[in-house]
Amino acid sequence: MKRIYYVSASAALFSLVGLVQAVPFSPRLHKSTALVLIDIQNDFITGSLNNSRAPSILPQVYKLLDDHEWHFIAASQDWHPEGHVSFASAHAGKALGDTVNITFLDTPMKTEQQSLYSDHCVPETWGAQIESGVQTRLHYLEGYRTPVNYIKKAQDHSVDSYSAFADNQYHRFTTLNSELSLHGIQTMVVTGLITNACVRGTCIDGIKLGYEVVLVEDATETLTDVIKQATIKELEGWGVQVTKLADWEKNNPTGYKE
Ligand SMILES: *[C@@H]1O[C@H](CO)[C@@H](O)[C@H](O)[C@H]1NC(C)=O
Ligand SMILES: *[C@@H]1O[C@H](CO)[C@@H](O)[C@H](O)[C@H]1NC(C)=O
Repeated sequence: MKRIYYVSASAALFSLVGLVQAVPFSPRLHKSTALVLIDIQNDFITGSLNNSRAPSILPQVYKLLDDHEWHFIAASQDWHPEGHVSFASAHAGKALGDTVNITFLDTPMKTEQQSLYSDHCVPETWGAQIESGVQTRLHYLEGYRTPVNYIKKAQDHSVDSYSAFADNQYHRFTTLNSELSLHGIQTMVVTGLITNACVRGTCIDGIKLGYEVVLVEDATETLTDVIKQATIKELEGWGVQVTKLADWEKNNPTGYKE
């Protein structure tokens, strides 16, 4: 990771006059743009919800972290208490892939279907950790100039959460929208796992909340290409811009010259 940083003397002045400018000038910066990393956790790659297609996103995610500067990075993590409503093991007589109907927390006459999975992303387990190559890069960036916010989601025992903005019942919101707004973000560049669940939910909520949403299609994966393409088609219908990393880089040059 060979890098050169340009921090002008005026950066010190800016901080003196109290401007909320967390990121010093960089010729690689994408202004008002956040990189959003959805659930790039071991369990979704090689752990209990492993998916042979998932590892293929990592080179593109690393490149977004190594070659670009962001005003803000959000990294979400599924973060489930033991016995979570999304675990098949928590429902007697149910198997992986079954669904159960659950009642909305604040609207008892409303129900939603909850899909059931293997136990996954339990705090303090290896599976809940962000993939090590991504985590190392995030630690490095945090140590210098980029604010990184970790969004823990689906911590409520009885409600699942796909979107990094809110749970599936919009019962409780995370801090993601406030953080994006605090940092003046207009565009979210979204990557991560898995396309048709947590990536989908985050993209749709991003559109609903008024952000420009870009999904980097070679930095997101799911179980099959058929599922992935169907989700991409749906998201384009919502107004999400879907692009390959190389095309996005070509269309969003920074001031940096090799
Ligand atoms: C990978 O997923 C399969 C089910 O798809 C599961 O049986 C297996 O235990 C998982 N591997 C790990 C290491 O958890
Ligand atoms: C769950 O809800 C669906 C759709 O409302 C319904 O068709 C199904 O019968 C319900 N299942 C159970 C076990 O109540």
